Amino acid sequence: MTLAEKIGQMTQVERLNMNGDIIKNYSIGSAISGGGSWPREKASAKDWVDMVNEFQRGAMSTRLGIPIIFGIDAVHGNNNVYKATIFPHNVGLGATRDPDLVKRIGAATALECRATGVQYAFAPTVAVCRDPRWGRCYESYSEDHTIVQQMTELVPGLQGDIPSGQPQGYPYLGGKTKVVGCAKHYVGDGGTVKGINENNTIINWDGLRNIHMPPYPDTIRKGVGTVMVSYSSWNGVKMHANHDLVTNYLKGTLGFKGFVISDWQGIDKITYPPHSNYTYSVEASINAGLDMIMVPYNYVEFIDTLTDLVEKNYIPMSRIDDAVRRILRVKFVAGLFENPYADLSLADQIGSQEHRELAREAVRKSLVLLKNGKNLTSPLVPLPEKANKILVAGTHADDLGFQCGGWTITWNGMSGNDMTIGTTILNGIQSSVDPSTEVVYRQNATSEFVKTSKFDYAIVVVGEPPYAESKGDDMNLTIPLSGLETIENVCNNVKCVVVLISGRPLVIEPYLSKIDALVAAWLPGSEGQGVADVLFGDFGFTGKLARTWFKRVDQLPMNFGDPNYDPLFPFGFGLETKPISVSGH
Ligand code: GLC
Repeated sequence: MTLAEKIGQMTQVERLNMNGDIIKNYSIGSAISGGGSWPREKASAKDWVDMVNEFQRGAMSTRLGIPIIFGIDAVHGNNNVYKATIFPHNVGLGATRDPDLVKRIGAATALECRATGVQYAFAPTVAVCRDPRWGRCYESYSEDHTIVQQMTELVPGLQGDIPSGQPQGYPYLGGKTKVVGCAKHYVGDGGTVKGINENNTIINWDGLRNIHMPPYPDTIRKGVGTVMVSYSSWNGVKMHANHDLVTNYLKGTLGFKGFVISDWQGIDKITYPPHSNYTYSVEASINAGLDMIMVPYNYVEFIDTLTDLVEKNYIPMSRIDDAVRRILRVKFVAGLFENPYADLSLADQIGSQEHRELAREAVRKSLVLLKNGKNLTSPLVPLPEKANKILVAGTHADDLGFQCGGWTITWNGMSGNDMTIGTTILNGIQSSVDPSTEVVYRQNATSEFVKTSKFDYAIVVVGEPPYAESKGDDMNLTIPLSGLETIENVCNNVKCVVVLISGRPLVIEPYLSKIDALVAAWLPGSEGQGVADVLFGDFGFTGKLARTWFKRVDQLPMNFGDPNYDPLFPFGFGLETKPISVSGH
């Protein structure tokens, strides 16, 4: 391989403004759809497959015909794609304590990725979020690394079960219905100061190794194809420039044989301001041991800079050869040389009924019942399906976008019911109650309205608007929008169950005495029916907190096992209910 062909393999570009000729002319090795980057609005499987195949034709027409690998943030289903099944975010999956469920979700996600020609998913996030003020805490399965380790079952779900006897550390992929996974973000992304995204994780080596590192050996043992480096720093050293942790520990001690990829413009952020010394960014990251760079736009500058650094021996050819060997290893294992092109044979997997039922099961198991009745003798849930008139209120009762959260169709997610397909929580309630029960819906219910309407009970669904990454950093964690007002207006006047849609615990203690029943539903995704399934007793509440529910924000960070641990609801808490056995059901 020429130096240009080698460096091309190390270059990942955003699909936007990309085409087959550029891929060919620069021997580009990988393309990506960033959050919210699609061929067109509400693109079909064919639109996606045609796009990937155009890029692939460019790659296959190069001298060596090395296929590209196309990556996407399929972090709760193939969530960029219209009509894809949107599974609960990881914060809810951690509450299920069900690794096999997560593995099945991985398998479904892989099918919905391959249906669009995508062979590479930037998942699982194995962050151990230690502070819910972090805008990405919902991408973390738990504050407890042992739960995160259990949920690395997503890797064999996405990639297939690694055969026994496979040499340790080598990537594995089980055929054309599976996708290459990506353990991220290496390492300590969930431990930054005050949860500030991309900031500094200040902790000694024992703390880093015992709290944040454990999921990585599990993903490597399961054959994960790639590892993505974190934007964050460890004790002031940028992870994207950390030779000791990337080369000596991940590739050396842990024996990882797949490829290490940067985060989006991650090398640019080695310096401040970002991109203020790009030559240094390229030199430091490649010499640290990064193999593929998610550039994603200025690929000419990246290629020219890296070429110059190698030609002047600031970066040894041996480092380039190690990177390219790892990238080609993953592509060979992924079967891309034998099957470079995508087809529409799996198109019917997108949003399939089977996957939606799986997502509905995940929603049910993710719900955590935190309070049930103002005293134990008067539980409110399961709710009677047959009643005269009930109220459903709140900003999140009938909003698919809100219940899906960030990384859904767009990077930060959105509100509304038109952006994809699914059932809102209101839809689920309407389908679950007896036909004789009148369901009244008010997004914003006034106290006067509630007082004068004689409802049997009310279901209040409120919470956070969608967000991603730094947009979600929040030092106050109060229930936003009109949530608190709706809780007051409704729960002061009628028996109420509050369903909280959020990426993390929020301040609830001051209002708890007004609330009869409280459910943490996290970010349930497209199958809101799963919430109603449990509210009305078709299934029991089984979820357990995978994160501490604090009393006050000034207690943070506060995790299970800390001295002075004084939560409102402790890690592992969750009330249980039995399903209502209905004859003839
Ligand atoms: C983002 C995220 C990372 C994601 C990547 C590509 O900034 O940090 O999780 O995989 O860029 O979208």
